[in-house]
Amino acid sequence: MLRLRDLRKGFGTLTAVDGLSLEIRRGEVFGLLGPNGAGKSTTIGMCVGVLRPDAGEVSVGEWGSPTRAAAREHIGLAPQSIALYDNLTARENLSFFGSLYGLKGRVLSERVERLLSTVGLSDRAGSRVGGFSGGMKRRLNLAAALVNDPSLVLLDEPTAGVDPQSRNALFEQVRALKDAGKTVVYTTHYMEEAQRLCDRIAVIERGRLLALGGVDELIARHGGESTVVVQRAEGESVVRTGEPLAELQRALGSEGVISARVERPNLESVFLNLTGRSLRD
Ligand SMILES: Nc1ncnc2c1ncn2[C@@H]1O[C@H](COP(=O)(O)OP(=O)(O)OP(=O)(O)O)[C@@H](O)[C@H]1O
Ligand SMILES: [Mg+2]
Repeated sequence: MLRLRDLRKGFGTLTAVDGLSLEIRRGEVFGLLGPNGAGKSTTIGMCVGVLRPDAGEVSVGEWGSPTRAAAREHIGLAPQSIALYDNLTARENLSFFGSLYGLKGRVLSERVERLLSTVGLSDRAGSRVGGFSGGMKRRLNLAAALVNDPSLVLLDEPTAGVDPQSRNALFEQVRALKDAGKTVVYTTHYMEEAQRLCDRIAVIERGRLLALGGVDELIARHGGESTVVVQRAEGESVVRTGEPLAELQRALGSEGVISARVERPNLESVFLNLTGRSLRD
């Protein structure tokens, strides 16, 4: 559905995307993960045709380059920096974006009302966006990405800075998009969310691909060992091991155990193992 071939993009002397090749399959939720400044938004910019690559190629489905109108019709983007008009109402924002795709009349108004309802904003449809909370803006930003009923949806940190309620609603939206057969490319810094949502994940840093695969595959390959934590009256012992069940059994066979648990590596372990613990920016 989306093919990136040896993509490169620099800003002055800085290389933001450095020879990135990926193939995103039709109908999958694909996570693009990486620390701040890894090149995720720059990559997404090139995928939707708003940034021109210095080298390499992007191709969307059977429509070719995303700079072509024929391809753009099928792409939806929820940008990281919210792109809405504060002085228009929620309904006016969606109507405006829909009209850019040539929608009008009943088709447009029905789609706008449906999307407002999907993102839980029907009762605030007539309010100006300037007064909206962060969560409401993020939800409307997602609705705007869907106004042309795209088959490829790119969501750049759709849940950044929102409360658990809005995050959950946005999360359900991504699930619904997948169920509707859409292809979703998704960036987030919330590893637990990516672990639950994504069929496959690419971890990038400095514009290069570090790892690619399904969640379980990445955890098995890059997650590291499990930890067995055993609590006794005299204190806690922590053992890292590739055989957590054997270690747990051994611990439970010993004297004075109050509690014991196994902590398995997760996507966060993968992320930290691959990208290190030093701070960015
Ligand atoms: N328009 C621009 N001009 C100059 N530098 C830029 C521009 N856009 C991005 N960069 C730089 O390119 C690098 C990649 O930025 P990008 O926004 O793609 O990262 P990101 O992975 O999306 O980060 P974040 O997680 O913080 O959103 C960063 O070093 C950033 O400062
Ligand atoms: Mg970004």
